[in-house]
Amino acid sequence: MFHLTAAAISRYLPADSPWSLDVRECVESTNTLMKATAQELPTGAVLIAERQTAGRGRMTRSFFSPPHCGLYMSMLLRPQVSAADGLLFTPAAAVAAAEAIEQVCGTSVGIKWVNDLMLNGRKVGGILTESTLTEEGKIASVIVGIGINVYPPRDGYPSELDGIAASLFANASGEDIRSRLCAALLTRCAALMVELPEAHFLGEYRRRSLVVGRCVTLFPQGEQVVVVDIDDACRLVVRDRAGTIRIVSSGECSLRSDFRP
Ligand code: BTN
Repeated sequence: MFHLTAAAISRYLPADSPWSLDVRECVESTNTLMKATAQELPTGAVLIAERQTAGRGRMTRSFFSPPHCGLYMSMLLRPQVSAADGLLFTPAAAVAAAEAIEQVCGTSVGIKWVNDLMLNGRKVGGILTESTLTEEGKIASVIVGIGINVYPPRDGYPSELDGIAASLFANASGEDIRSRLCAALLTRCAALMVELPEAHFLGEYRRRSLVVGRCVTLFPQGEQVVVVDIDDACRLVVRDRAGTIRIVSSGECSLRSDFRP
């Protein structure tokens, strides 16, 4: 089994990579630890863990993070962008992750708005972005946390994740896939996040979207709508049961829906 180390990952990074890597064996949550230490960390700090005991997802969910099976990492940035543009970090990271997975694993994953990486109807990864704001309401710092299930846990997924979670590979191979994937992901993140307000990644986000043209259920509202488009701020453009076109900027959506327009 290959272990994640800064040296192993750096072997696949370009010489001018802006990231400084800190790899730990076990943390509660890379986002939580990075948040607690952010003041002492430089922009471009990356915290990677082989295992998380309390990995977190959006909407107070947990993110199952068994040892040596995945990629669990957080990046610290201090971008000069507005709070509105700060909302683009999550979809940009989703595109970076999907592109890195395709490049390294040869697997095409879709994106379920806003942050879920999906393979054959199951979740293989997700993004948790946490920001702080300046007094003027601009972004002061942002922590982008990415979790990807690369291999299944030795004892399988817990029963509550049955039919929900999946991994990119059925077994580990003779290749150091996780280090390559981590480096490819960091390289794509650096490229996409530097041009953030222009959001050049949105075309790719729409191309990989699993929700455009589909009937979905919005959460927490529980309302069923048709997704017509994703706008330039990466919000959902939906048509509701009354036929009204509306914009949805927060929450989640499920592909389970019995709404047929
Ligand atoms: C989600 O599925 O809603 C987001 C999952 C994000 C998981 C990653 S793993 C690394 C980082 N640390 C955390 O505690 N969460 C994110």
